[in-house]
Amino acid sequence: MSDTQKNDLLEKVTALAKRRGIVYPNSEIYGGIGGFYDYGPVGVEMKNNLKRYWWKEMVDKREDVVGIDGAIITHPKVWEASGHIQNFTDEVIECKKCHQRFRTEEIADGQKCPNCGSQEFTEPRSYNILFETEVGVLENAKTKAYLRGEACQTIYLDFKNVVDSTRMQIPFGIAQIGKAFRNEITPGRLTFRSREFEQWDMQFFVHPNDMEKWFEYWKEKRMDFYKSLYRKQENLRFKQHPKDKLVFYAKDAYDIEYKTPWGWAENEGIHWRGDYDLTQHSKFSGKDLSYTDPRNGEKYIPWIVETSGGVDRTLLMLLLDAYEEEDLGEGKSRTVLKVHPDIAGYKVAIFPLVSNKEEIVNKARSIFELLSENIKVVWDDRGNIGKRYRYQDEIGTPYCITVDYETLENDTVTVRDRDTMEQERVKIVDLDEYLS
Ligand code: GAP
Repeated sequence: MSDTQKNDLLEKVTALAKRRGIVYPNSEIYGGIGGFYDYGPVGVEMKNNLKRYWWKEMVDKREDVVGIDGAIITHPKVWEASGHIQNFTDEVIECKKCHQRFRTEEIADGQKCPNCGSQEFTEPRSYNILFETEVGVLENAKTKAYLRGEACQTIYLDFKNVVDSTRMQIPFGIAQIGKAFRNEITPGRLTFRSREFEQWDMQFFVHPNDMEKWFEYWKEKRMDFYKSLYRKQENLRFKQHPKDKLVFYAKDAYDIEYKTPWGWAENEGIHWRGDYDLTQHSKFSGKDLSYTDPRNGEKYIPWIVETSGGVDRTLLMLLLDAYEEEDLGEGKSRTVLKVHPDIAGYKVAIFPLVSNKEEIVNKARSIFELLSENIKVVWDDRGNIGKRYRYQDEIGTPYCITVDYETLENDTVTVRDRDTMEQERVKIVDLDEYLS
């Protein structure tokens, strides 16, 4: 892909996402609301597939990780203990002319306002990005609460419950996929920086002596995960946080970055949290959150390796990774999403060649019913076959099956491959095996 093509890749992906029901701007008929998005019929399938893919790797295939699904609103003290009420801030500057606000780091020294060109900005000031809400029904008895600024806090709150209610022994992890909310100053680049988004988190609880080993283990494991998802492996790298930028309790931290059209960008963080979180919650709640090893009676506050990534951000990066425009010769071209088949919204599209011949439609329907027992299938009987292929290519459907006149004679169908565009005749009885 050329540089010009790369530069407008985000625009093209954003347009495709809207056009084909992957991501819509939220409240669009009211002019939209910055930083909030909805997933359409194709997008919701893709996002669910992506979450299942993570859950399978991080929970199902592991004997040492269990999942939870925590509430979005917690006791407000949680955010005091975690430090978010004091420190969950971005530095903001405001253009004195147009009053647009920016994160200080976005405007280099001497740079003009990207909105109006003025060079006059206010002094930087801190701005807390936690979303506030109120809990309770009576006007004068409402309690201020917060939408969780990071999903992982619920895992720390449930650590003791999990130890007491399961057979897990340290080392073990607790995984969760859930919403987080940040009142970002400059949301943008589709879902890359949004105000409501989902995180996939895993907090791995270890003995302090084993911290180094597990930190390395999870760092590699998480990189392997992203390598298995993306096509362009060269667009993945680790970025170690500089020692002087680490939070005081962290000995180390890495981002897994993906190379986007606007540069290397964080996809997931691998964080050394030590005993900070459980110690803070013990202090603020007055409850003992230490762990007693049933094998030798040793009592200690477990240390934590965190892996924390963005679901929406990963899906956006996957779209950027998968988007291709191909020249088919003779003035023809196609747009295709070469997305991992496990993540594609639909695995197979079923086309009856014509929609007015009952035998063909019925045959196609029976194949739809057969396949939809095990995989997500979509039906399309609109327009000519060429147009149907183009549509499915744009949403990344790996296979299209056409039921035609020959099907009625010999019970075979045409299976067309998204990436090679090659077509093969396959017996209906062999379809399940062929597709798997
Ligand atoms: N518990 C640690 C934590 O929340 P983080 O680096 O702030 O760490 C983890 O967030 C991941 O969440 C990021 O790597 C990113 O993928 C995603 N994320 C963070 N802020 C986001 C936002 N405003 N919009 C979309 N995704 C975001």
